[in-house]
Amino acid sequence: MPQISSKGQLMPPSPIRKLVPYAEEAKRKGRTVYHLNIGQPDIETPQIVLDGLKKVDLKVIEYSHSAGNESYRKGLAKYYDKYGIKITHNDIIVTTGGSEALVFGFMTCLDQGDEVIIPEPFYANYNGFAVMAGVTVKPITASIENGYALPPIEEFEKLITPKTKAILICNPGNPTGYLYSKKELEALRDIVKKHDLFLFADEVYREFCYDGAQPYSAMNLEGIENNVILVDSVSKRYSMCGARIGALITRNQEVIAAALKFGQARLSPPTFGQIASEIALDTPEIYFENVVNEYVQRRNILVDGLNKIEGVMCPKPGGAFYAMARLPIDNSDKFCQWMLEEFEFENATVMMAPATGFYASKGLGQNEVRVAYVLNQEALKKSIEILDAALKVYPGRTINVAKKATTV
Ligand SMILES: Cc1ncc(COP(=O)(O)O)c(C=O)c1O
Repeated sequence: MPQISSKGQLMPPSPIRKLVPYAEEAKRKGRTVYHLNIGQPDIETPQIVLDGLKKVDLKVIEYSHSAGNESYRKGLAKYYDKYGIKITHNDIIVTTGGSEALVFGFMTCLDQGDEVIIPEPFYANYNGFAVMAGVTVKPITASIENGYALPPIEEFEKLITPKTKAILICNPGNPTGYLYSKKELEALRDIVKKHDLFLFADEVYREFCYDGAQPYSAMNLEGIENNVILVDSVSKRYSMCGARIGALITRNQEVIAAALKFGQARLSPPTFGQIASEIALDTPEIYFENVVNEYVQRRNILVDGLNKIEGVMCPKPGGAFYAMARLPIDNSDKFCQWMLEEFEFENATVMMAPATGFYASKGLGQNEVRVAYVLNQEALKKSIEILDAALKVYPGRTINVAKKATTV
């Protein structure tokens, strides 16, 4: 039998989905499983999109321009203007989700063996994109103690080698929910400028910033206009994960020209997804106000509830819809599997993502889990009750007197 590639062997399985068979088995036993493990929101897609799609009357479902429909790109440029990001449609390549934007970005800017520095814990699929592009991830560990703020800039400096080509940040962050301040971003700007690196800014959760905080885009950092590559997506913004539309955005025309060649090789982004995304640009502001209000209430229920459980520490996230929690447990992979395989409370259990998959450094995340607050408030309250009961009887419980996190 011929051997598969080393990339095929190296490609990591998704840590978020690997427990799925156990969840399926629990459901077969008749148990309710509360899914706090994935980032699929239960929020409805804007009505304007659902209505608009019904009126689509195509005779041929054609390819579009490889960079995406011009009318959509022009509409997107106006959307960014609202955030003070001044770009034109020529600075945008529409992609098949933010995922493809990350792959195109890596392929365009980094060579085999080049290094990208990423604060960890980070979105686990960055590992997969790095394997696809032959890029090495150099993690820099953020700490739960300060809510996963940007690690000191000196730590970044220490990791820079002749092979370092880029830094990748996610703001607001998945899995941490941390929202970087302008000051933190300016510190990154200085190091990016000093070493002439690319700065990939994954801002797919831009709309989800809480407590009056405004997101500050890396695109607005002065002096590194040709270094910043913005990764964006409609998946979370309009609860349109299945539309598979994202974008790679940069003022660097050399990057645009090269990324477009990758775009041409895959012909075009999805036609229906682009139609839906263009309609979504007219989503009324009230939609976001309602969604943000809902997420704030959910966050408060979840985070306050978790912090009330003995031995649990959960910093309050400033954005996105995830939180990381430190639990009094020996091993988060074991614990999350045990929750599905062995534990039930009133015939229900909770599925969470073990945090080990969000760290590139071996051994980290063993006593942390990521929870997504994508379920309604009642389901979240129930989930906390279940987790509380589980932690009382889990055989691998540690005597952990966790310090409560400061609110961030
Ligand atoms: C931080 C982050 N970036 C990118 C993506 C990719 O999303 P999509 O390909 O659906 O745009 C996700 C999806 O969960 C994400 O959480």
